[in-house]
Order: sequence, then C-alpha cells, then structure tokens
Amino acid sequence: MALLPILEFPDPRLRNKALPINDVDDSIRKLADDMLETMYDAPGIGLAATQVNVQKRIVVIDISEDKNQPLVFINPEVEVIGDGFEEMDEGCLSVPGFYETVQRPDHIKVRAQDRNGETFEIEDDGMLAVCIQHEIDHLDGKLFVDYLSPLKRQRIRKKLEKIHRQRA
Ligand code: NI
Repeated sequence: MALLPILEFPDPRLRNKALPINDVDDSIRKLADDMLETMYDAPGIGLAATQVNVQKRIVVIDISEDKNQPLVFINPEVEVIGDGFEEMDEGCLSVPGFYETVQRPDHIKVRAQDRNGETFEIEDDGMLAVCIQHEIDHLDGKLFVDYLSPLKRQRIRKKLEKIHRQRA
C-alpha cells in the first residue's frame, strides 16, 4: 500500500470530473487500498479519487468509531428519498482546517459496486448520507466550499493559498 498526496483547494485539478470504472480489477482494488490508507493516515472519514488526482469514480468512507469498517463505493449513484434536508458541519481533507455548515438532503439511497464489482445498495438518513453526498460531489468536481457564500469561500481560499506559499 502507499500514501497518496492529497490535492488542496483551490487546486484546479479538484475540478476534474471522474470517469466511470468499467472493470473492477486488481489495479482498482490497489487504488481502493491506497485511498483507505491515505484516508486513515490523514486522518479523515472519506476520500474521493479526485482528491488524489485520479479521475475515476471511486470513493472510500469509514465513519465508524474504531476505524475498522472501510466502505468502498465504485461508480456510486445517489437517489434522494423524500424532501427533507439536514444541516451539518462539514470538513474536507482538501480544505484542511475549515469546518462550515452545509445543507443537504437528509435521506438517500446509494447504489454502487464493491471491490469485487458486486452491486450493492445502502439507504441512510444520518452521517453516512452526508458523507456519501460530499464524496460524490468530489467526483463531479464539486467541493463543500461551493455551498458557502462567495465571501466565505474567498476567505478560505486566501488563507489556504497563504499556507501553500509558506510551504513552497
Ligand atoms: Ni472532501
């Protein structure tokens, strides 16, 4: 396994749209393992391939307390159930250090393939529902800061750019 570098906002590569995965083969399983290792190391509860500069539709999530319930979603599709919304504070490994309230549909069903290419479905109206929507947004080139006011987004952008300059 290997740790993968995580792109940070406002890196334009975070705007790339990920492509469907046709074959769930060993290279995809290795990518899933590397993404999980990278996510646990960060540490975070979710990571999308776009964040490690891979344009493939795969996300990994683990919202368990003990970090021992890894979930791999390949070609995930979300269906919103009902018309309820929920507000939660979200953070992101690509926007390190910032947490802001985002409103999303609160009840969803996700359909995806697992690491063996088998299709599965999960329905959730809690933390997993929020996390999955956040990660699928990444695959479509979208970040949680896009839901904030332009002023707030600009403030975060400036702060991160300053940190990146100091690092360079
Ligand atoms: Ni994120």
